[in-house]
Amino acid sequence: MPSLVEILKQSEHFLRNKGIVTAKLDAELLLAHLLRYNRLSLHLHLHDNMKDQSLSQLQQLLSRRGNREPLQYIVGKVDFYGLSIAVDRNVLIPRHETEEFVDIIISRFGNRPVRSILDLGTGSGAIGLALAKHFTKANVLAVDANQNALLMAQKNAMRNEITNIRFMVSDWLEGIDETFDMIISNPPYLTNEEFENAQDEIKNFEPKCALVSKNNGLADIFKIISTTGRSLAKDGVLALETGSSQHESIASFAKDYFGKFESMYDLNGENRFVFLQI
Ligand SMILES: C[S@@+](CC[C@H](N)C(=O)[O-])C[C@H]1O[C@@H](n2cnc3c(N)ncnc32)[C@H](O)[C@@H]1O
Repeated sequence: MPSLVEILKQSEHFLRNKGIVTAKLDAELLLAHLLRYNRLSLHLHLHDNMKDQSLSQLQQLLSRRGNREPLQYIVGKVDFYGLSIAVDRNVLIPRHETEEFVDIIISRFGNRPVRSILDLGTGSGAIGLALAKHFTKANVLAVDANQNALLMAQKNAMRNEITNIRFMVSDWLEGIDETFDMIISNPPYLTNEEFENAQDEIKNFEPKCALVSKNNGLADIFKIISTTGRSLAKDGVLALETGSSQHESIASFAKDYFGKFESMYDLNGENRFVFLQI
């Protein structure tokens, strides 16, 4: 029976031949997932032998990754802002930029007495849950048009024992008649062309309806900007994650609905987040 260290070398080689840039890391994470270790304990067991049954299971996992299925769908979860978020192909895999978005929101508004938050297009629930965990006194409403995504978001609330959050199927703000101190959204904002040119992990596995929007990627952002005003409480904020080339168009469109517009960069120096106030 081969040792784990030998298996790891072969797995890395297999993934590298399939063009996976992060072959070493992915091989480790898949093996650790299969053996129910974290990466540290995997390294402590490198000289253990691997059972035949585990070997054939690992081959299946490697073959999925070799076909460019995202690692997060294979292991079924992702760490997001200190939460463990379960993911499957019904939901977008929460991105690092979105963690930055949450971080900016918390550093800017963390000291305010926020009582109500609306997360529009919650997907896996990542943003809404991270904010619910921070703003413990706030009631969070998380909505999505996709019922299957909402089931995953609900599961994630239970998984992380977060209770100050409710879930609702809704086409953006349709049927919502409450007001909120903060309305947050990471809506679909890619153009069809950007989606078609995206890497296989995205194009072949992630839900297109979570990523692509009409009107050069701006249709959903414009819909949200033109309809949220009535749902914001006094001094309320609308915060959006957007595409990096969209801020000029958004600023121009938002003039009719909001008095204050602010653009913020992500850590790569891309204009990525928009904050709007009436
Ligand atoms: C870019 S994903 C964001 C998911 C999650 N909030 C995150 O940041 O990882 C956009 C989400 O918006 C949802 N969505 C798309 N159109 C919608 C609509 N008309 N009304 C409500 N949600 C919508 C999608 O189902 C998807 O979950």
